[in-house]
Amino acid sequence: MGRLVFLFIFVCFTKNILQGRAQGITKAKDITVVVPPEEENDAEAGAVYVRWGKLTCPSNGAVMLYNGYAAGGPHNRPGNGANYLCAPKDPQYLNDTKISVTSYLYGSEFMTNNQVFTGATNLKNVPCAVCHSQRRSSLVMVPGKTSCHEDWTREYYGYLMTSPSGYVQNMKYECVDSLPDTIPGTQSDATGAIFSFVVVVCGNGLPCGPYDGSKAVTCSVCTK
Ligand SMILES: *[C@@H]1O[C@H](CO)[C@@H](O)[C@H](O)[C@H]1NC(C)=O
Repeated sequence: MGRLVFLFIFVCFTKNILQGRAQGITKAKDITVVVPPEEENDAEAGAVYVRWGKLTCPSNGAVMLYNGYAAGGPHNRPGNGANYLCAPKDPQYLNDTKISVTSYLYGSEFMTNNQVFTGATNLKNVPCAVCHSQRRSSLVMVPGKTSCHEDWTREYYGYLMTSPSGYVQNMKYECVDSLPDTIPGTQSDATGAIFSFVVVVCGNGLPCGPYDGSKAVTCSVCTK
């Protein structure tokens, strides 16, 4: 055992010397270790998330990359994408060719019946903000929780939303802020993507004890 460990250390040592030689390094003092300044180091880390339903990022140090319109495919057609996108306000195009074979991107709207959220949200267009948490690089969305686990920072919380049951369009579940903004001057029953509250059908694997089949499912977005 002792001999094996010694052999291992010897091999590593020799390998390092050989690698150093290959780079023209012969003595320890030839090696300079560059440690980036604290701030610069932090800026390279971090996590990015979309804050659905808001035009702003949380005031916890998160930096907004951009805000815009929550977008997705039409709710009445199969195909297209299966996720919501945060579409910027100032798009750029790359090719002027008028295309004939295509998929679609629409805006999106709340289908809330004006329930749960404060104020009138039904059929209003949904905004979004793309936020960069610069000092915390792990990110998780927890369905069914409004809080975050110990030592984690809550970026925002609200309600889990997705496309309505029975519609042909399938969308990813996303967490929408509990106090959403809406895009001013919008209220129409458009063909775009829909954000609808989610309820648990308990007793089919999700136990009815903790879960309540009548209330809107919550969510929190947490970083560490
Ligand atoms: C745009 O698309 C056409 C083909 O439809 C192609 O010939 C052309 O090079 C493209 N232009 C650019 C700027 O990529």
